[in-house]
Amino acid sequence: MTSFRSGDKVWAEDRDLAWVEAEVLDVRDMLFVVATAQGKKLSVSKEELLPRDPEAEHGGVDDMTKLTYLNEPGVLYNLARRYSLNEIYTYTGSILIAVNPFAKLPHLYSEHMMEQYRGVRFGELSPHVFAVADASYRAMLCEGRSQSILVSGESGAGKTETTKLILQYLAHVGGRAAFDSGTVEQQILESNPLLEAFGNARTMRNDNSSRFGKFVEIQFDANGRISGAAIRTYLLERSRVVQISNMERNYHCFYQLCASGKDADKYKLGHPSCFHYLNQSKTYELDGISSEQEYLRTRRSMDIIGISSYDQEAIFRTLAGILHLGNIEFSPGNEHDSSTVNDAKSIFHLQMAAKLFMCDPDLLLATLCNRSIQTHEGIITKALDSSSAVAGRDTLAKMLYALLFDWLVESINKSVGQDLDSKMQIGVLDIYGFECFKNNSFEQFCINFANEKLQQHFNEHVFKMEQEEYGNEEINWSYVEFVDNQDVLDLIEKKPIGIISLLDEACMFPKSTFESFSTKLFQSLQNHSRLEKEKFSATDFTISHYAGKVSYQTETFIEKNRDYVIIEHRNLLFSSKCKFIAGLFASFPEWSSRSSYKFSSVASRFKQQLQVLMGTLNSTEPHYVRCVKPNSLNCPQKFENQSVLQQLRCGGVLEAVRISLAGYPTRRTYSEFLDRFGVLAREHMDACFNERDLTEGILQKLKIQNYQLGRTKVFLRAGQIAMLDARRNEVLDSAARFVQCRFQMYVVRKRFIETRVSIIAPSSILPEAIISLVLDKRLE
Ligand SMILES: Nc1ncnc2c1ncn2[C@@H]1O[C@H](COP(=O)(O)OP(=O)(O)OP(=O)(O)O)[C@@H](O)[C@H]1O
Ligand SMILES: [Mg+2]
Repeated sequence: MTSFRSGDKVWAEDRDLAWVEAEVLDVRDMLFVVATAQGKKLSVSKEELLPRDPEAEHGGVDDMTKLTYLNEPGVLYNLARRYSLNEIYTYTGSILIAVNPFAKLPHLYSEHMMEQYRGVRFGELSPHVFAVADASYRAMLCEGRSQSILVSGESGAGKTETTKLILQYLAHVGGRAAFDSGTVEQQILESNPLLEAFGNARTMRNDNSSRFGKFVEIQFDANGRISGAAIRTYLLERSRVVQISNMERNYHCFYQLCASGKDADKYKLGHPSCFHYLNQSKTYELDGISSEQEYLRTRRSMDIIGISSYDQEAIFRTLAGILHLGNIEFSPGNEHDSSTVNDAKSIFHLQMAAKLFMCDPDLLLATLCNRSIQTHEGIITKALDSSSAVAGRDTLAKMLYALLFDWLVESINKSVGQDLDSKMQIGVLDIYGFECFKNNSFEQFCINFANEKLQQHFNEHVFKMEQEEYGNEEINWSYVEFVDNQDVLDLIEKKPIGIISLLDEACMFPKSTFESFSTKLFQSLQNHSRLEKEKFSATDFTISHYAGKVSYQTETFIEKNRDYVIIEHRNLLFSSKCKFIAGLFASFPEWSSRSSYKFSSVASRFKQQLQVLMGTLNSTEPHYVRCVKPNSLNCPQKFENQSVLQQLRCGGVLEAVRISLAGYPTRRTYSEFLDRFGVLAREHMDACFNERDLTEGILQKLKIQNYQLGRTKVFLRAGQIAMLDARRNEVLDSAARFVQCRFQMYVVRKRFIETRVSIIAPSSILPEAIISLVLDKRLE
C-alpha cells in the first residue's frame, strides 16, 4: 500500500465533495496533516488519502485508462475537468461515458461531424457517441455479427437523446442516398417523436422522461444498408394516465391535443385544468415547448410513418374520450352500496365519452356502475359503490391507453417493415436506470430487476468472460475480484421460491393482502443474504442490489402486479362502432371464465420479456454507453461529485477501469493475428510453420513488451494493437506505392508502343519486327 511523505500531492476524502485536492504537510503518529486546495488543514488516516498526479493535464485525458493514477478521484476529476470544457464524452477503454451537458451543442452532432467519424478507427478521434455507433457498424460489416449498444444511466442522464444520436448516425451511414420521406431510416427516426408523445412525461427528474423501456433493432442487408427495423417496448407506466403527483405531468399527447385548436373544439376539450386526469398537478406547460407545435409535430410523424388519417382521428378521439371518462364522478345510488353518476356535469362527460368511444352511453354507465360475478347459482350482477366505480373507471382508462400505446408500437413496426432475411442487426437499448427513492414501489422493483439483469450481462462480458478466457488460455493473470449478482437474481426470479413467484401466488388468491404477502416472503426467504426486513415496518423489504440497498414498500404490489381485463370493459369497447377501438380489444377472446377478471402477472411477463431481451443481447457483441447526470437541477456547468461517483459505481465504470487496465483488452487467435500482421515479418513466414513462434517473432521484431502468449491466442495490452496497425499500414502503403509505380510504367509503355506503331507503321519503311525490337530495347 502507498505511504505518503510530506510534500506529496494527494486526494483527501471529503464529506461534501467526495474528494478534494490536497498536499501532505506532516506525518504524525500514523496520521497525515494535509492542506486542502480549499485552504483547510486536516489530520487524516492513510485510508482517507489517495495519490494524485500533480502533472495531470488541465484538459483531462480522453480515456481513463491513460490516467497516471487510476483511482476514484482521478476518474471523477478527469470527468469534471472535461465537463467544464464542454468535453462531455470520455472513454474508459471501450465504454463511453457521456455526461449530460444540459445545453445544446449543435456543432457536436452536425452531418459534418458524422462524416468525420465515419470509418475512422475507434479511439483515433475525440470520444464521441458517433464513434461507438461507427465501431458497431463496422464490426457488424467486418465480422458479419450482430451488435448491440446498451445505453444506461439514471433518469435525466441523457439515454434517450443518446439513443436518438446513435440512430441518426446509423441512418446516415446505412441509409440510402435519397433521403426523402417514406424511407425506412426516416420512419425509424420519426418513430422517436411519436413514441415520446405517447410514452414520455414530465417527472421531477426530467421534463421528457421516458416512461417505458425501448429496444430498437435496426436490420441491415448484406451491403450494410438499412433494410428494416423492429421496436420492442417494456413496461409502460400505466398509473400515470389516471394519477399524477404535483409538478409532474401526464403523457405529453394529452396536453398536445388540448392545445390543438380545431381538434380540441371538435372533441369538446378545453384547458388541461378542466380535466381530472390532468389537473391533479398544477403543471401544464413545459419550459421552451409549445404544445400546439408539438401536436403538429406528432401529426407529421404519424403521416411519415404512414398512419392513415382515419386511424389518426380515432387515436385522438380515444385520448379525448379518456379525458372525459376521467371527469365522470359518482355518488351513492338508491340501493345500498350502489353508485350513480354524480350530476349534470358528469352526465355530460359520460355522454361525451360514449360518443367519442362510439358506444352506447347506457352500456357505458352500466359498465361503470355494475360488475357481473359468477356464483354457484349462475351469473349475478352486483352494484359497485362509488369508490369501486371510480377504481373501475380508472382501470378502463389505463387499459385503453396501454392498448393504444401497444397499437402505436405495432403500427410503427408494420409500417417500417421487418427484413426477415437480414443476418445483421444493431440493437440499441434505452431502458430505465437503477432507481432508489424515498418510497420505492412495484415499478422500482421491476426497474431494478431489469438493471440487475443488465448488470449481470455487463459483468459477464467485461469481467467473467475476461477472466475465464485468461484461465482457459492458461496465461499468467492475477484474478481481479468482482461482485457477482446471481444471488440477487435468484432472490427475485427463482422458481418456486423467489419474490416474483411468491407475489404471483398472492395475486391468485382474492383474499391476499400485502401483509400476508410480506409475511410469506420473510418466512420463505428469511435466510437469504440479500434480503432484509425493515426495522420499523412489518411489510417493507430491503434488497441489497449491486448498486446499493433499496427498501420497497409493498402496499400496492399485489394490485400493480395484477394485470387483468374486466370482461364488461372488453365487451363495452368491443361493441364500439369505431373499428379502431373495437380492434384494440380484438385479441382478447370473449372468454367464458368463471370470474369477471382474467389475471396475468405484470412481473412474470416482464421477466419473460427480459429473458428474450437477454437472449438477443447474448447473441450480439455489446457496446456500452454510460450516461451520467451531472446535477439534480438539470442545469449546465454544474458538477455534483457525490452523485456522479455513485452513478459511476452503479454503472460498473470504476470496476471496468480497473480490469481494463490490469488486463489485456486485445486478443487474437494466432491465425487471425498472422492473417493481419504476417506482412510485418514475411522473412519468417516462409521459414517457420509454428503460428505461436511466428507471432512471437513479429512482436519481438517490433519490440512490443508485456504481451502474453496463450494456448490458442495472443493477448495484448491496451494500445499495442494500435502500434501494430500503424506499422502494418506503413508496410502496406509502401507496397501499394510499389505496385502503383509498376502499373503506371506498364501503362506508359503500352501507350508508347501504340503511338510509335501508329506513326511508323504507315510509312512501312522498316519491317515490323525491327520496329518492335528497337522499342523493346528502348523501354528496357
Ligand atoms: N447530448 C445532449 N446534448 C444536449 N442536451 C442533452 C443531451 N443529452 C441529454 N440532454 C438534455 O437532458 C434532457 C434529459 O435527457 P433524456 O431525456 O435523454 O434522459 P433519459 O436518460 O432518457 O431520462 P429518462 O430515464 O427519464 O427517460 C434532455 O431533454 C435534454 O434537454
Ligand atoms: Mg428517456
